[in-house]
Amino acid sequence: MSDAISAAPLQGYAEVSVRGSRMRYAELGSGLYTALFLHGNPTSSYLWRNVVPHVAAQARCVVPDLIGMGGSDKPAIAYRIADHLAYVDEFIRTLDLDRDRLVLVLHDWGSALGLDWARRHAERVRGLALMEFIPPMPGWDDMPAPLRPLFRQFRTEDAGRRLIIEQNAFIEQVLPGAVARGLTPVEMEHYRAPFREPATREPLWRFPNELPIAGEPADTYAFAQRYHDWLLGSAMPKLLFWGTPGALITPDRAAWYAARLQNCQTVDIGPGIHYLQEDNPHLIGREIAAWLGRGLA
Ligand code: BEZ
Repeated sequence: MSDAISAAPLQGYAEVSVRGSRMRYAELGSGLYTALFLHGNPTSSYLWRNVVPHVAAQARCVVPDLIGMGGSDKPAIAYRIADHLAYVDEFIRTLDLDRDRLVLVLHDWGSALGLDWARRHAERVRGLALMEFIPPMPGWDDMPAPLRPLFRQFRTEDAGRRLIIEQNAFIEQVLPGAVARGLTPVEMEHYRAPFREPATREPLWRFPNELPIAGEPADTYAFAQRYHDWLLGSAMPKLLFWGTPGALITPDRAAWYAARLQNCQTVDIGPGIHYLQEDNPHLIGREIAAWLGRGLA
């Protein structure tokens, strides 16, 4: 497989009804494991397009679009984390993924959803591959300095809605600004496509308002503490990717986790900010395939 970064979406899309709405997912590959890939804000399964083909040689890969995102339906719900959890739980049950040797490949809000699922169903999960996951952040200093002023505005009711719903700032500013190589016009069009109308951007606004920062929002903060405490105590096999400078998982934080997480291998992807799969997807895919190939125990 060439190391060029392709703009072409994954193949093999299907749809399933979850809580009365359509969720779209790609399914490809086969093997001993089932790998469930969960994305975050404001992306979709498209984020994983250059990673999954490597893993498909080792595992059945299931790559959904979260509810309200990508090609999935956009029901009129609040898009709080508890809502996303309910859809992900039912998606996993409906596809019977929890019967298999399940491996979770997690990024951003997909990490919060997947880590909490793993905490609640630890006996059904064989391994966790993590990148730019969301830890509880005790203070605003834990957010990357260049993003702090913008995220503070996102969490101010009027300014946040104006920036994200009216001006589409999460797609137009945050996303390309958190990819070290930038994104091409074709890639940007793929990411824009699900959110052409302001009325579709509610999930993009809700996510930064759910980030567990300085104890707020209290329920999401407690939720993040629960999965994070579980992660720190779990012996489940882990593969942690990190980049430089990173955003949520900086090189210093990656070293902190490497020293504390049990059964954890770390991979330096080189230059990367938050969307590491857009900066070094082939390395990420090959490393996940090799990790699965060595067997998880
Ligand atoms: C987030 O959505 O959690 C996020 C996006 C870009 C940089 C850091 C965090």
